[in-house]
Formats: sequence, C-alpha cells, structure tokens
Amino acid sequence: MSTLDNTSLQLPKENPQAEDFLPLLGTDYVELYVGNAKQAAHYYMSAWGFQPLAYAGLETGLKDRVSYVLEQGKIRLILTSPLKPGGEINKHIDSHGDGVKAIALWVDDARHSFNETVKRGAEAYFEPKTLQDGEGEVVLSGIHTYGETVHVFVERKNYKGVFMPGFKAWKPYYQPTNVGLKYVDHMVGNVGWNEMNKWCEFYAKVMGFAQLVSFDDKDISTEYTALMSKVMSNGNGRIKFPINEPADGRKKSQIEEYIEFYNGAGVQHMALATDNIIETVSSLRDRGIEFLTVPASYYEDVLDRVGEIDEDLVPLSELGILIDRDDEGYLLQIFTKPILDRPTMFIEIIQRKGAKSFGKGNFKALFEAIEREQESRGTL
Ligand SMILES: [Fe+2]
Repeated sequence: MSTLDNTSLQLPKENPQAEDFLPLLGTDYVELYVGNAKQAAHYYMSAWGFQPLAYAGLETGLKDRVSYVLEQGKIRLILTSPLKPGGEINKHIDSHGDGVKAIALWVDDARHSFNETVKRGAEAYFEPKTLQDGEGEVVLSGIHTYGETVHVFVERKNYKGVFMPGFKAWKPYYQPTNVGLKYVDHMVGNVGWNEMNKWCEFYAKVMGFAQLVSFDDKDISTEYTALMSKVMSNGNGRIKFPINEPADGRKKSQIEEYIEFYNGAGVQHMALATDNIIETVSSLRDRGIEFLTVPASYYEDVLDRVGEIDEDLVPLSELGILIDRDDEGYLLQIFTKPILDRPTMFIEIIQRKGAKSFGKGNFKALFEAIEREQESRGTL
C-alpha cells in the first residue's frame, strides 16, 4: 500500500460532508504570471527562502515564455513571464498585474479529474495531455475557476524527474537558506459582489467540496468596512479555499480595493504553514518582508481571550504575530502587506497548534490594520 494511488484511500476524512470523487492529494504548485520571472524568482529565493528547482525557457526549447520553479517544504511556486508581445500571459499581466494564474492540484488521475469536473459543469481550460521524457510521464488537465484563475490537475505517479517534462533541473550557485515554510495551508479567492455563494456552489458541485465555516458581515466588519467569507474544503482537508466577497460598509472594503486593482476576481492570499512562526517571521523580517502591525493594546488582553499558549508573548508582540483559539487548539498567524505593486496579493504565515479555524478572533484587529494601509493608499 505504498503507491500514490493508495495513499489517497488512506487519508483520514477531515470534512465528512465533502465527497472526494477526484480525490485531491494536495496542492501541486501555484503558478504566478509575472512581468519579470527572473527577478521575481530572485525575490522569492532571497526574501522568502525558496530553493531553485527547475527551469524552462529558450534553453529548453520554449520560444514564447520562461518559467522558474522554486520549492520550500512541500510548496512549489512557478513564476512565468512572456518573451514576446501579445498572447495570453501578456494579457493576463496587463489586466491583473502580477498574480496567481493557476492553483495546481495533485491527483491520482488527471483524465478522471477532468472528466468528472467537466461533467459536473466546470469549464475546460485544457484537455488532458501527457508530457513525457526519460524520467517518465506527467498527465495534466485544466479547468477554469473564479476570474481568470484556473485549476490544473497534475498526475505525477509515473514520473521520477525533478519537476515535469519540459523543465530542466535549475541549480544556480545562489541557494539561500529556507525560512521553514512547509506547505500551503489555504488559498483565498476574492470574488465580486454577491458572487461568494456562486463560487462556493461551484466547489461543492464541481469538485465535491463542502463548507467548513462561514463568516458574515457581522463577524468581519469594523466601523468602516465589511466582507463575507465562506471556507470550502475537500474531504481530506488538504485543500481549503476560503472565498470572500465585499459587504456594505461606510467605506470601501479591502475586497473592493482588490477587485478594482486586480480588475476582477482572483487569489487574494496564500497561507503558508510553518512549525515555528517566531523563527520564520524573524527571518522574513530580516530579509525585508513587511508585515501588517496591530496596536500594542492587542497584546494586553490577548491571553485573556485565547488562554495559555506555549510561546512567550514578548517575541510574538515584538513581531506582530496574532493569536486565536478554537475548540481544538490555537493558531498563530501574521499577514504581509501586499507583495506586489498593485494592492492585490499578500501572504499569510500560519502555525497551527491544534486549531483548524482561520483566526476569526483576529479579524477586527487585522481589518483595522488593513484599513490603515488603505487609508495611506487613498483607497479606503
Ligand atoms: Fe488566511
């Protein structure tokens, strides 16, 4: 029972309502379309501790694009840029700026995943195709989701190479140390007004997901802005997609700001997990990553709210790490400022200590921090 096919059958069910007909084994990679993949790769290596893994471009026979593949723990990022004017990637960058194009999902059978999801109403992005080289074969297929974002199903059980056919190993001299990031905890989508339920139904109907939690505008509002959110998850809980939509408030919400600058629905943040958030965030801060900060008063009564925690509060408050608790344990989390020129995508760092939730107790402090940033951008 050691083959990849069987692994999925043994995964414990985390979300009993979800129907794992695909099934999804995890996040295979996240691909961003960016204006300058070479420089973006350097940023994710030097600032985020990603390791160089694979490369495709002119040297591997591509004529129109270049891709750098980076990894850290189980997280793989692909940074792709166009080499010529026109075409799909340029249009994507022109419309959205740098951003996530594909959330690729690791499956046992990419043909089955395509057929099952398309049969249930998914719009095809590309039909199943097999890529081969001396290391074996990878089967890929793709479907559309919100905005211009897509899901690529990746079947790699018959592949032994470094990433996939078409890529060569990339081993530059520069290999910075990692910062302890382990896996993609969740990927959040922002969608337009009144579209949250539509996209949650899409994940339920097309991919067999079930709703984990729901937050309405009473949970997620400040004096000025509001949003609504539902978290959809697959059966084994490895894939969690919160979906946000704007809600009415006195001022413009962060979701509206995102939709305006991204020019539509798209990925708002990736949450990356660590086993030691104090070390990870200290390293990231030393390497130039900027995080949202909360007022010092947050830490005055936080332990009254969350109870005892293993960590010392001093480094947590010094770094601005937030704490929340649910029935199953607690979590530590922190959010970067937008990491792109447009105020669109950011990254969350999360350490789970039993908690399976998303930090509801921190929403108010967090959204007030975001509003301070919006204010400085003139977009509140
Ligand atoms: Fe999150």
